[in-house]
Amino acid sequence: MIEGLFIALEGVDGAGTTTQTKRLAEGLRARGLPVHATREPSDGPIGMLLRQILTNRVVVPGIRGPRPPSWTTMALLFAADRLDHVEAEIQPNLLDGVTVLSDRYDHSSVAYQSITGGGEAETLAWVKQLNVHARRPDLTLVLDISPEEARRRRVERGRGREIYDDQELQEQLAAFYGDIEKHFPDDRIVHVDGEQSVEAVAKDVMREVRILRGEDPDG
Ligand code: TYD
Repeated sequence: MIEGLFIALEGVDGAGTTTQTKRLAEGLRARGLPVHATREPSDGPIGMLLRQILTNRVVVPGIRGPRPPSWTTMALLFAADRLDHVEAEIQPNLLDGVTVLSDRYDHSSVAYQSITGGGEAETLAWVKQLNVHARRPDLTLVLDISPEEARRRRVERGRGREIYDDQELQEQLAAFYGDIEKHFPDDRIVHVDGEQSVEAVAKDVMREVRILRGEDPDG
């Protein structure tokens, strides 16, 4: 049995990773490929806890009142969720020949946790080390979008505030994602212009996946 392909979609909040993961799954299924679409934080037990933290349902009772856990706790939880996700969901599907698409993967940890941790080289190295056993994707697609357009989309989406919903942080993240490949020299990382229409982005994403599969990109 040939293993399935593992593809991650990445970008800042509002970049469109959720929409494009869904579109890519539909597109590949329409071509007859077995696909499993998933996301991080995952739907496993640690992922559920992370979602409660992200929406302020779970807090730390700080001396000045409730607050989200520190970046160190978050880095450990995201890494734990990821390894559980790989073990329980990603790896079994890949071994079954199913192509797995993940809406976010460890590039999110290296971006979000190292920036919220202060951004020093030492911080970044620690976050990377926590994820050293996370299986590498065959392809990572980074959806590039300006912080302004991402913000407009987040406002339009109208969800409640999450803990990383801060414009200054999102600007730092956009800059970080701009050359994220320098932190993952052995990964195949491709940037796609995420400011285009949903249709045009989906087309560019499919093109990259076809190249990965050794097919005619325009076929
Ligand atoms: P979610 O609300 O699902 O974001 P979106 O649908 O916009 O992708 O929550 C994911 C949030 O968690 C997002 O702000 C990025 C953050 N995150 C990290 O900080 N580190 C990580 O390792 C992962 C996977 C996500």
